Amino acid sequence: MRFSGKRAIVTGAASGIGRATAQRLASEGAALVIADVNEAGLAETLASLDGDHRAVPFDASNVASCHALVADATSTGPLDVLCNIAGMLDWGPTASFEEARFNRLLQINLVGVFAMCRAAIPHLLPSRGNIVNMASTAALDGIAYSAAYTAAKHGVLGLTRSLAVEYAAQGVRVNAVCPGQVDTPMGNQAPPEGDVDWSIVMRSAPKLENGICQPEDIASMVAYLASTDAAKITGSAFTVDGGQLVG
Ligand SMILES: NC(=O)c1ccc[n+]([C@@H]2O[C@H](COP(=O)([O-])OP(=O)(O)OC[C@H]3O[C@@H](n4cnc5c(N)ncnc54)[C@H](O)[C@@H]3O)[C@@H](O)[C@H]2O)c1
Repeated sequence: MRFSGKRAIVTGAASGIGRATAQRLASEGAALVIADVNEAGLAETLASLDGDHRAVPFDASNVASCHALVADATSTGPLDVLCNIAGMLDWGPTASFEEARFNRLLQINLVGVFAMCRAAIPHLLPSRGNIVNMASTAALDGIAYSAAYTAAKHGVLGLTRSLAVEYAAQGVRVNAVCPGQVDTPMGNQAPPEGDVDWSIVMRSAPKLENGICQPEDIASMVAYLASTDAAKITGSAFTVDGGQLVG
């Protein structure tokens, strides 16, 4: 029960890693505000949780919506943990990947994370709380046909490290998790259309037996980083990838 008496926001909680994280934190005693643009999925997640939790719809592509989510979550009490997990994947051959698609992906996967962090930090200072951002192995390596997603996830890691330095002396920790392929709707998304050489995408396949991660594998790392078990960890990027990047 590492989160007994703790209050957390989990975004992306309608599905996949966000849902598994909400279930893990709730099972360890956290009181949650879960958030997502998918209201039906959010209601399903809420119904799966034991305890006193709230679901708040929000759109990570909209800065005002990010700020309103934090304001709502903090209107009834303090905030100890922010898990920024909402995200999307859009990929394809770069020559035909228009700037509008690039901008939309960055708005959701990077600007939304910044907006959530910026709004949450004033509330995490008094609680000496922490942030866990969902990056990716795409934050650490290049991935073919994924320039926008890779740029956004490298940005999430840069943001994580910079905030960690800025707020460490004030007791706020900021870390990132870098999953490889995870068995979720996003992780199982169809390959991009167009002229795609799949062999250059698959160069970094998982190497462990049954190496593709389950959402729960990632949720347990999020819970570890958000807990006092990780009290001396900040600015870190923890890879959970079944050995994808090992060589
Ligand atoms: N699945 C993988 O292989 C993998 C690997 C590395 C990193 N990730 C990251 O993990 C995170 C969760 O992904 P997942 O695999 O659970 O995928 P998922 O598709 O199961 O869940 C993503 C969630 O984000 C929500 N979301 C998307 N756009 C949103 C928006 N504009 N506002 C609010 N919510 C929005 C979706 O509704 C969904 O519930 C993402 O940040 C993703 O980039 C996933």
